Amino acid sequence: MPEVTLLNIGRTIEVPDGQTILEAALAEGIDYPHGCKSGRCGSCKSRLSGGEVELIDHSRFALTPEDRDGGLILACRAVPKGPVSVVWLGDEDETDSHPLREADAEVVGVALLTHDILGLRLKVAGPALDFAPGQYATLALPGVPARDYSMANATCAEELEFHIRRVPGGQTSGAIHDRLRPGDRVRLTGPRGSAQLRFGHTGPILAVAGGSGLAPILSILQSVVAQGMRQPIHVYFGGRDEYDLYGLERLTKLAEQHGDMTVTPVLSSPSAPTTRRVGLVHTAVRTDHDDLDGWKCYTAGPPVMIDALTEVVLAQGLQRGDLHADVFFTPETKTETVGLTAAG
Ligand SMILES: Cc1cc2nc3c(=O)[nH]c(=O)nc-3n(C[C@H](O)[C@H](O)[C@H](O)COP(=O)(O)OP(=O)(O)OC[C@H]3O[C@@H](n4cnc5c(N)ncnc54)[C@H](O)[C@@H]3O)c2cc1C
Ligand code: FES
Repeated sequence: MPEVTLLNIGRTIEVPDGQTILEAALAEGIDYPHGCKSGRCGSCKSRLSGGEVELIDHSRFALTPEDRDGGLILACRAVPKGPVSVVWLGDEDETDSHPLREADAEVVGVALLTHDILGLRLKVAGPALDFAPGQYATLALPGVPARDYSMANATCAEELEFHIRRVPGGQTSGAIHDRLRPGDRVRLTGPRGSAQLRFGHTGPILAVAGGSGLAPILSILQSVVAQGMRQPIHVYFGGRDEYDLYGLERLTKLAEQHGDMTVTPVLSSPSAPTTRRVGLVHTAVRTDHDDLDGWKCYTAGPPVMIDALTEVVLAQGLQRGDLHADVFFTPETKTETVGLTAAG
């Protein structure tokens, strides 16, 4: 098994054959910075200081050819070919770090929010789970694979709130919808992820959610209001039809409390005449914003939405380090690969 030395913490771990550096680090309980785990967000960008890795498929926004030439890799896409050493780049602004915990949690509430999104409330055994707004936890229930779900409430709450969309044919989302009832227990590991609110940012904020992607966006917006962050905030919430939208009252209330927040629901295929904005959410963002330099963008939702939005916001001047994305899907199997060796 190849060994990887993580120079940030001076620790060497073994990486089982075929696994990525990030998979092995997370399995060891190491708080390696990451987001999508699928080569789309760039949160796990790292410098390859020694050795050779195979880089599996990733988006060109997460890691550019220039990045690769400069010796950077994505830990979630890097399979070591032998002993390697890496340094994660992290994020200077990411000061709010919370210890990873594994705990039992009891289901204390289930309620449909839309025809296919379930609101799930969990009470964690022991002390409340401390997390940064925008982070997620891994939920495990018997008989189905563990999956990641984002907290929808503000930090350190007594009960955790999740919004879980039933993916057609989905094993775990199907089991959560069909089986979980108050009194049931699940195993929870978290918090995870680095697409969290950056409290130090004072420029404007773009927040874009698709479907159950509203969960981490709500967590972020509630914290923005609670912390008294006063910059302009533009929120976009995309769904196909009116029946896909939820949480609008909460968003409206947050906008009133904040005072400089606009909320724009966008419907991609309304089945009846509507006064809402119609189209794809990234197109609405492109129409409304021609200069996003100095903004931060928080986004969560299906891969197709995040990919299209990423292209738009970067074209409109957003700096890549100011994009914090959670891609809601089961990380793909690995396909295309490129070899990469540490420079020098
Ligand atoms: C960081 C992170 C945070 C997440 N947070 C949330 C959250 O707050 N709420 C939430 O509802 N989901 C969230 N997800 C997605 C969640 O983890 C699961 O991927 C999702 O519930 C599907 O799992 P499943 O076992 O039901 O489906 P699977 O059995 O894994 O998949 C069944 C089929 O559906 C496809 N598929 C998987 N995901 C999608 C998708 N999004 N759209 C279309 N097809 C898909 C698969 O490729 C497969 O063919 C998050 C994912 C990540 C990585
Ligand atoms: S690119 Fe690696 S975690 Fe998103």
